[in-house]
Amino acid sequence: MPRMSADIRHRLRFRLNGRAVEGEAEPRMLLTDFLRHALGMTGTHVGCEHGVCGACTIQIDGVPARACLALALQVDGADLRTVEGLAPQSGRLSELQQAFRRHHALQCGFCTAGILMSLDWYLRDHPDPSEAELREFLGGHLCRCTGYTPILAAALDAAKRMREAPPDA
Ligand code: FES
Ligand code: FES
Repeated sequence: MPRMSADIRHRLRFRLNGRAVEGEAEPRMLLTDFLRHALGMTGTHVGCEHGVCGACTIQIDGVPARACLALALQVDGADLRTVEGLAPQSGRLSELQQAFRRHHALQCGFCTAGILMSLDWYLRDHPDPSEAELREFLGGHLCRCTGYTPILAAALDAAKRMREAPPDA
């Protein structure tokens, strides 16, 4: 990353949920703050702000990442996906989102966006996960409400339905 003056705003451009986005940020600005405050994309939540809770998880260039551990200027030129980009079209939830709704896999919902973004990635490469594998994977996300049982049930249900009818089939 090139050296940047700390006290001025710098231009950045990236793709967000399939659309070109541009703006300006100071070098110290976190990606979470840029998404939420500069772009108004408040689906990405902020909990611990030091990479532990998983609430801020988004996908950067197709891979889950903690947005609270990235600076906005680091994603210049990248391809980002947030929970706002998960639904395939307006008014229609993704299979994973539908499963979360069916199984009541959220209560306050604070952790949910991050969990959805991680699971969306995981289930693409692990279409038939065991409950134990999902438990291990979800260890990277803290949920204070659900006890995880409905989240696991939703993930297993979504995986099964996607195996039976792949999303882009
Ligand atoms: Fe980023 Fe907790 S807010 S991991
Ligand atoms: Fe409240 Fe997970 S649903 S923290």
